[in-house]
Parts: sequence; C-alpha cells; structure tokens
Amino acid sequence: MKKVRKAVIPVAGLGTRFLPATKSMPKEMLPVVDRPVVQYAVDEAFEAGIEHIVFVTGRNKAVIEDYFDLHPELVGTLEQAGKQAQLLSLESLLPVAGATSFIRQQSPQGLGHAVWCAREVIGDEPFALLLPDMVSFGGRGCLAEVADLYAETGGNVIAVERCDPTETSKYGIVGCGADVGSGFEVTAMVEKPAPANAPSNYYINGRYILQPEIFSLLGNQQRGAGNEIQLTDAMVRLSQSQAFFAQPFNGRMFDCGSKEGFIQANIAFALARDDMKEPIFDMLQEFVRSHERRVEAA
Ligand code: G1P
Repeated sequence: MKKVRKAVIPVAGLGTRFLPATKSMPKEMLPVVDRPVVQYAVDEAFEAGIEHIVFVTGRNKAVIEDYFDLHPELVGTLEQAGKQAQLLSLESLLPVAGATSFIRQQSPQGLGHAVWCAREVIGDEPFALLLPDMVSFGGRGCLAEVADLYAETGGNVIAVERCDPTETSKYGIVGCGADVGSGFEVTAMVEKPAPANAPSNYYINGRYILQPEIFSLLGNQQRGAGNEIQLTDAMVRLSQSQAFFAQPFNGRMFDCGSKEGFIQANIAFALARDDMKEPIFDMLQEFVRSHERRVEAA
C-alpha cells in the first residue's frame, strides 16, 4: 500500500457566507482564538504524518502564501524586543522549506475542480484532502483517525459525523454498510440530498484519503449540484471500481465558513486553553444568566 505523503487544502473559495468580513480578507485567515482557520488544517495534516501540502489558491489569497513564509522584519523586531517565546511559537508554525506548493484555481468551478487543479503535484499516489473551513476539535485530529483506518483498509476513506436529519441538504451524505475496523463500508454517496432522499444522517465532514484515479474522473466530469464540478459525484464514479470506507470522527468539526460555527469554534478552543478558560467560562455563565432573565421577563 502506498504511503499518503501529500495533502491538498483548497483555499480558493470566495467566502460569501462571511461577507462583509471576507470582502478583502480570505475566510481561511479569520482567526479562531489567535490562529487563522487554515493553520488548524495544516497542523492536523502534519500531525497525521503528511509531508507536503498543496494549497489550491486563487485571486486575493496571496496573504495565505505570505502567512506560511518567513517574515524577517517581524523576526528582527521580536529578537530586538527579547520576545523569545513568541519567536519560538512563530517558528514552530512554519512548514519546513519545500513542504508547501501553491497552485492557482483560476475560476471558481466547485470543489471537484479545485482538487483536480492539484493533479500534477500529487501525481500517481494516494493523497489526503482537508477542507479548511471545517476545523477539527477534540480527539487526535480527524485526519489521523482517517489515516489509521486507511492503514487497515487501503482504498478510499472519508471522515463522517452525524448531522441533524433535517440538515442533510447542507452536506454530502453517505450510506452505511458493514462495519470494518473502527469504521464502515460506504454503500452510497449523495451530494446535498433532501432529507427524504438521504441514505443516512452521516455527513462527509471534510477529511478524505483518496486514490489518484479520482483525477481522471474529475477531468471529464459534468457539472452537478449548484452547477459546480462536485467531488462527491467523482467519488460515486470511483466507488464503482474501488472500495470506499467511512471513519466516524471521535471529536467534532466546527464549520468555520458559517458565522455560527465560527463563533462556536472560538468558544470551544478558548475554553480548551488554560490561559483563557476561566474568564471565558465566567463571561459565558454571566451571558446565559442574563439571557435567561430576559426570556423569563418577556
Ligand atoms: C463540501 C462537500 C460536501 C461536504 C462539505 C463539508 O460541500 O461537497 O460533500 O459534506 O464540503 O463541509 P461545500 O461545503 O463546499 O458546499
């Protein structure tokens, strides 16, 4: 079985769900506590053993590339100010030289098209895909769980979580087959089905390990839901000749492309930090109490 060495992180999306903040700033740079959303996906990938990350980027996203580069003026200023802790922390976040590639998606044609743009850099080997809007919280990191199941099964593995059965039309939904290791066999994949047509309430949460044959399928694909080239449609075609497995994630994902998910993520990550949990917890309690008082008085 070929090792999964490379990961694709698509960052070309326009972020219309987050306007006006995303008018001049990429949604991937919005901070959860003090790190940009995209940093969480990068950390998760390297922690799962990935060696090289291919960012699929687009116009107005240059700050993402700069973010993953050395910033000599900042380093100089921090050195002069004797801020060693901050220096070390910045250094620890920098990918080693040569571990990143940036590919342009010239026009937004859907997730499937963004993934296809990475084909030359990925080549003929299995790869991971992380959708950075989805921020992994708790557990060992979602991609590490996917990689563990992949080490047992090979083939293609996608991470899933349960969603509210009324919300299936927001996601790709899988059908559940026999249990395999810590996961199960995928019997169907449908992109954004109405609840009545959903094969389960297990939704695809944005972490995948895929075989390179997906690229030729994406290359000759018709547009699907939303008039976009859908990754899920190509996975359905790939599943006719290759096995697909699902790994239910033992933590949870926050959808930081939505305002609600972004705020939830900030609260969850702040409460998980020793330097922040007490004041944030106290403030939340206070907010809840005054909200309850307002509801009672109404
Ligand atoms: C994409 C995928 C979908 C998946 C979702 C997770 O949809 O197409 O299958 O469930 O990401 O966030 P998008 O959010 O780009 O519409």
